[in-house]
Amino acid sequence: MSDQAVETSERLGSGPWDAQETEYDYRVEEIGGTMPEALRGVLYRIGPGRLQVGGQRLGHIFDGDGMVSRFEIGPDGVGFRNRYVRTRHFAKASPSWIGRGIGTQRPGGFLANAFRMPSNVSNTNVVSHAGGLFSLWEGGRPYRLDPESLETVGRENFDGTLKLLGAFSAHPKIDPVTGEMFNFGIEVFPRPMLRTYRRDRHGKMTSLATVPVPRPVFCHDFALTDKNLVFLVDPLVFARPVSALLGLDSIDHCLDFRRQQGTRVALVPRDGGKARIVDTEAMFHFHATNAYEDGDDVVVEVVAHDPEQAWSPWNEAVRDYENNVSAAFGGRIERIRISGNRVTRERLADIDCEFPQLDHRYEGRAHPVTYAAASSIPGGDPDSLISVGHGDGAQEMFTVASGHTVCEPVFAADPERDGGGWLLSVEHVADQARSRLLVLDSEHLADGPIATAELTHHIPMGFHGTFVPAR
Ligand SMILES: [Fe+2]
Repeated sequence: MSDQAVETSERLGSGPWDAQETEYDYRVEEIGGTMPEALRGVLYRIGPGRLQVGGQRLGHIFDGDGMVSRFEIGPDGVGFRNRYVRTRHFAKASPSWIGRGIGTQRPGGFLANAFRMPSNVSNTNVVSHAGGLFSLWEGGRPYRLDPESLETVGRENFDGTLKLLGAFSAHPKIDPVTGEMFNFGIEVFPRPMLRTYRRDRHGKMTSLATVPVPRPVFCHDFALTDKNLVFLVDPLVFARPVSALLGLDSIDHCLDFRRQQGTRVALVPRDGGKARIVDTEAMFHFHATNAYEDGDDVVVEVVAHDPEQAWSPWNEAVRDYENNVSAAFGGRIERIRISGNRVTRERLADIDCEFPQLDHRYEGRAHPVTYAAASSIPGGDPDSLISVGHGDGAQEMFTVASGHTVCEPVFAADPERDGGGWLLSVEHVADQARSRLLVLDSEHLADGPIATAELTHHIPMGFHGTFVPAR
């Protein structure tokens, strides 16, 4: 950690990305407001639990060991537990050994990094499907976790369906009607491609189509309609593979945004047929909210970032994670319409945001509202949760106290309300070096939390999460 970051930490109590090395297990004593009776289940969240190993600062938020937080909301209150995923990297990492990451080089120069793949730190998303809980990292295999204890069961290859590196993206989509889970992984050998998968509601996984891409690319997310898997493959390419391979530079520094190559839209039929490809102007995005069929058109919603600031400026800002929390949150919600070979774009809100979410009962259909973590002032830290209605365009925003931050709002459906429920997010109470669970009514966001669960410590901001309703 830089001297400046240490000063910031001391002044504020804790920073949003400060490590949490302790694994806790307790019932939360301090509950604010009233937890809705119909809200019963478990919120899982994951992110890098530590961005320092043995006193050494890691180079990128992508590289910290995955730590899962589990908030169980039940009739007796809220239980909290957090556990690191017992990856090979976690088991081995020590003051004298750290693995290579996406933006972290091992000490010892290029010889210490040559021919080393980035470590699977399993830190990006956590998904529940067919009774199993999995932590995900897009460059390698998932880890199966015990949904109650969070104990790591082991690496998962889904009965051998995942081969070699076993790349399995951190953003699988689950059809709320069929219970099928769809996902993809990026493969490089024998040629660059996206390989798509379907896992049925009983947990049997099969490979679907592959989508060839001109070069190895970084593609983080996709969306699902009732007919297609929808990919927007931006021109963020692995431009200097030899430097990366020989350990001369970090992986992230070997990526380049090639705006002139444009973005490739690929529509992969869910029944496994051949992909339809449409090329369009370059976009720079990480996350898709949702997609749906609209007559003969396909509509996909994303959070788009400025292609003028693509990758290198964005990446360098994110690398300065102690001092630049806002860097990852500067996107805008856009609706992309694919009509035949034509692609049109429409901005839906002029608010800096990221980590878009929806009521997952609408996954694959036109969703009524988008939710996201946002900044109340342009370029500011993520201090707000927003909703953007697509019927009347109504927007609501809730902003936490100055200096505090929030993360992705996970939607928990209210079975009694079509399109209604609760948003679950974690607020970092920086000045007190602790965090708290926020519960907001999704239809009355501006009113602020209707309930909170106050942790006795902080947990790092993290990336993604999922809510599993009680049976
Ligand atoms: Fe993501």
